[in-house]
Amino acid sequence: VAALALTAAPGRLFAATSTILPKTAKPLPLSAVRLRPSDFATAVEANRVYLLRLSADRLLHNFRKYAGLEPKAPIYGGWESDTIAGHSLGHYMTALVLTHEQTGDAEMRRRADYIVDELAEVQAKRGTGYVGALGRKRKDGTIVDGEEIFPEVMKGEIKSGGFDLNGSWSPLYTVHKIFAGLLDVHRSWGNPKALTVLKGLGGYFERVFAALDDKQMQELLSCEYGGLNESYAELYARTNDKSWLVVAERIYDNRVLDPLVAQQDKLANFHANTQVPKLIGLARLHELTGKPSQATAARYFWDRVTQHHSYVIGGNADREYFSEPDSIAAHITEQTCEHCNTYNMLKLTQKLYSWQPDGAFFDYYERAHLNHVMAAQNPKTAGFTYMTPLMTGSERGYSTKDDDAFWCCVGSGMESHAKHGEAVLWEGEGALLVNLYIPVEATWKARGAQLTLDTRYPFEPESRLTITRLARPGSFPIALRIPGWAAGKAVVTVNGAMVKPVVEGGYAIVKRRWKAGDSVAVTLPLDLRIEATPGNADVVAILRGPLVLAADLGPTATPWSEADPALVGADLLAGFTAKAPVDAVYATNGIVRPGNLDFVPFYRQYERRSAVYFKRFSEGAWKVEEAAFLADQARLKDIAARSVDTMFLGEMQPERDHNLVSEQSYPVSYRGRNGRDARSGGFFEFTLKTKPGPLILQATYWGDERKRDFDILIDNVKVATQHLENDRPGKFMDVEYPLAEALTAKKDKVRVRFVPHDRSTAGPVFGVRLYT
Ligand code: AHR
Ligand code: ZN
Repeated sequence: VAALALTAAPGRLFAATSTILPKTAKPLPLSAVRLRPSDFATAVEANRVYLLRLSADRLLHNFRKYAGLEPKAPIYGGWESDTIAGHSLGHYMTALVLTHEQTGDAEMRRRADYIVDELAEVQAKRGTGYVGALGRKRKDGTIVDGEEIFPEVMKGEIKSGGFDLNGSWSPLYTVHKIFAGLLDVHRSWGNPKALTVLKGLGGYFERVFAALDDKQMQELLSCEYGGLNESYAELYARTNDKSWLVVAERIYDNRVLDPLVAQQDKLANFHANTQVPKLIGLARLHELTGKPSQATAARYFWDRVTQHHSYVIGGNADREYFSEPDSIAAHITEQTCEHCNTYNMLKLTQKLYSWQPDGAFFDYYERAHLNHVMAAQNPKTAGFTYMTPLMTGSERGYSTKDDDAFWCCVGSGMESHAKHGEAVLWEGEGALLVNLYIPVEATWKARGAQLTLDTRYPFEPESRLTITRLARPGSFPIALRIPGWAAGKAVVTVNGAMVKPVVEGGYAIVKRRWKAGDSVAVTLPLDLRIEATPGNADVVAILRGPLVLAADLGPTATPWSEADPALVGADLLAGFTAKAPVDAVYATNGIVRPGNLDFVPFYRQYERRSAVYFKRFSEGAWKVEEAAFLADQARLKDIAARSVDTMFLGEMQPERDHNLVSEQSYPVSYRGRNGRDARSGGFFEFTLKTKPGPLILQATYWGDERKRDFDILIDNVKVATQHLENDRPGKFMDVEYPLAEALTAKKDKVRVRFVPHDRSTAGPVFGVRLYT
């Protein structure tokens, strides 16, 4: 592995190179770590029960059907009945492997091996090497076997719109999931059939890519491809066959990755989860090739995302897209923080850490793991969130049914909650590193050691590591991570007596001759602190140690329609008093306006409404702001409350949900807003829900647009002709179209169509809303 020459991230990261810490590190194998009772163990158990409820045969339905074999069980609904079908089986294989490793449950392994047998049968039946469940949507709406798009692609017929490739939804993303699942089954217990299936599948897509010249390859890669570069890199690592490496390096999206190699942040308006896996792949490639550019891009991306594009809970993206750097405060919405993104960022973090064990990587890891990943599963039901909304008063939408909840984050969710013991303990060059304070028991093979990590952190300050057995005693360092917020304040004891550890690289390091029965404990001060959002010091969140706290706004069953609470005063922290310290619950006294609220750990707000971000004011400023602030809040709430349906144009999921149909139309993004336009001769059309009574259609345009003329139709009836001519320079503008009641009466929904006149385009339109 080539040495890394990388710039430090702004402010706090990676100050100096340690002389004691290992140069590289790897986690103790998941199978060597068992969770002791905690929220993490509860999550794994709920997830294990969920995995047992799922049916492998149902997930295999389309794999068999499209190969000409009789399916053994009915198809699942949701995304598994869409053209992205099969992605869940890939996640399921990985989740089974991880749960087997994390818990030892033999049924998990039996199921994973069964799936591999089935895939081998499917592959043999097809005879091309391809194995998959992908669909392809024909013009008449019917879905057929998606394999038929690949011969077209090989002929250079590549119709890609970011997520759609020749009528199939992100097919290479799904192929990557199948690869990843099979690779995990092979890695964990060496199932040889998994490798055989992998080689067949690898060969199939190697032939598809070989048929394309570089330009065509780039066109193909403009459609989301997950981490397929990582899959091929891994196939090379497993087989030592260089031809896989050649493919892996060719799966490189110039448009996104070249700027990152050049250390330029051009991430704004890119779909976030499409990008993260590309960087994981590059990081894996760097491990195999030693090429510095691959490491540079991965590390630069990590720095930018964690420092300039992440919310306080460690998640990123609003409505799945990155915004301008340091613009979080303008993007605190009901669509923040897709779980997949964080799941992938944590993978990337582990990789970068393993090359350069610096505790700062784990400051991010802990933040995102504790406050986002742990929020994304409801332990009572094992349901998963897609987004974790940070807009005040919003609720988390956990999946409630196993039958049709198969969105992407259900897949990444079933993996995340299978492996909470994964990154707790690491080893490198004879040292043991404690990175997360999660209660576990572990075997450390290198020393023939049995370890117990006892803790109620982050609810109580002490974590104690006891060496209960040590077959090979001797002198070695134990490094305890000291989070950035605790720097200089941690207390370390060995066998109950205070010691003065070496403090380097984000760790307190104790090097001595250890023997069985020894224990080392660290106490981290769990004080409250205020954290500003990157780019806006007046929008803040409250944390207690690693925990993000939220104001509790009541149960989700009760709608929230108050003005957003604000924090007011010169010494905000003085306004908090511990109410139930061991549960991190605080009362407030006078600092929250309009009135006091309790603060609780955000991640545990599974069925509660929360406020995480607050505008902060001095007393004087609050008086001035109060009236305007409340009026503005009321206006926004009023619009939201009157909304019947909202369409975010140019964004994948809303466009799918609203059945967007279009011709000669394309997504646009401008000033951080996504929209859609159509050329003359084309159109775009979508469905909006209605409600009895008179309704107003509202569309948003950019106020500098000139010479634009287009018609707006509702169910084929023209309701307006819009002319845009520099109407609101430098600002977005909302235009309202009151609708005749007859147009929507007795209908649940209507189709809204935008049609440009000759020599004009249809906007672009940056969102459409129907309200009362
Ligand atoms: O398109 C597949 C996945 O679904 C994306 O990666 C995720 O962001 C999306 O919603
Ligand atoms: Zn997702």
